[in-house]
Amino acid sequence: MISRADAERLDLDDPLAPFRDEFLIPDDEVVYLDGNSLGRTPKATVERLKRVVETEWAADLITSWSHWLDMPRRVGDRMGAIIGSRPGEVAVHDNTTLNIYQAVHMALGLRPDRKVLSVAADDFPSDRYVVEGIANDLGLSVRPLVPNMPLNDVAVVVRSVIDYRTAEMADVAGFTARAREAGALVVWDLSHAAGAVEFDVHALGVELAIGCSYKFLNGGPGAPAWTYVHADLQTKVNQPIQGWFAQKDQFAMERPFEPHDDIRRVLLGTPHMLSLVATEEGIALSARAGMPAIAAKGRALTEFALSIVDDLGLRSSTPRDAHRRGCHVAVHHADAANLVDRLTREHKVIADVRPPDIVRLGLSPLTTRFTDVWDGLHALRTLL
Ligand SMILES: Cc1ncc(COP(=O)(O)O)c(C=O)c1O
Repeated sequence: MISRADAERLDLDDPLAPFRDEFLIPDDEVVYLDGNSLGRTPKATVERLKRVVETEWAADLITSWSHWLDMPRRVGDRMGAIIGSRPGEVAVHDNTTLNIYQAVHMALGLRPDRKVLSVAADDFPSDRYVVEGIANDLGLSVRPLVPNMPLNDVAVVVRSVIDYRTAEMADVAGFTARAREAGALVVWDLSHAAGAVEFDVHALGVELAIGCSYKFLNGGPGAPAWTYVHADLQTKVNQPIQGWFAQKDQFAMERPFEPHDDIRRVLLGTPHMLSLVATEEGIALSARAGMPAIAAKGRALTEFALSIVDDLGLRSSTPRDAHRRGCHVAVHHADAANLVDRLTREHKVIADVRPPDIVRLGLSPLTTRFTDVWDGLHALRTLL
């Protein structure tokens, strides 16, 4: 049986443990196992927001746009380093749902002769809804993505890298290569992968990807999402919402729409500056810790959680191969919703429920302790 002392030892040996002090944690007794939905609050974010509000907004007023204007691209470069892209391939903007919509349209424009979109029937709701909506609008059909399905007539596949329920990781390189061979494009959703696992868009052959930054990247509630477009595609894609932030000479005003030849092509209108600077701080923390160290701790935390799951006789569908999973663990129980509710009310353990029967435990490498994992799972056990 794994003891709490084992967890304490692992915390002592954890090279990322000091990063917990970089976050505002008003109640140290709260066992927070939901950083995969909303990451904790970096102290640097509080300072930065104060500075931006008091100086850049209150004092400098509109003159601040001289350096704010290019922030989606500058923060994009920092974001890109987390997923292995090169400078100029990522913009941080808008939200994930909108970015899926844009990315699918951009990909469709590259496959005008094909009439089929594909997404798995159990992928994240927004991903499915957006694909269905675009298909309805354009008179295309949606084929549910199933393993080894032929992709010869498929234009675009939308697919999550990490399953939002089980944490299973897709074979990104293998699937992207198979799609390319069949002439299909893949829009990868990295929402549960970015900041959790090591990822290299170029090594994996990824051409289009989107993701959020409020989960493992600790960007804050409603933090802007991001879009990655491989440099080779940037002048070839067109996005469906033509806004002035994508316009080459934005302040010429009277000119017809002529989009930038770079990643700014995905931008729409005025960025949410306060959220954007908060996102930059969150990303900066992950960059400072380094993705190899973050991913290694993620594997160790999930391994530890799965060992306790086994000890306690619980059931999990999360892959046992540490390199084939993200940073959360799915524990199945018919009464999952009630259990998650009672965990919070009776034990100060915050987890998530995912229907029909998953208690989802998110383990954030920068803030989750091994003792949190032990405490959370043992609290769950006491409720059963
Ligand atoms: C995998 C995945 N895709 C898309 C979304 C939608 O993100 P947003 O609410 O930022 O549009 C989420 C949100 O949690 C998600 O987990």
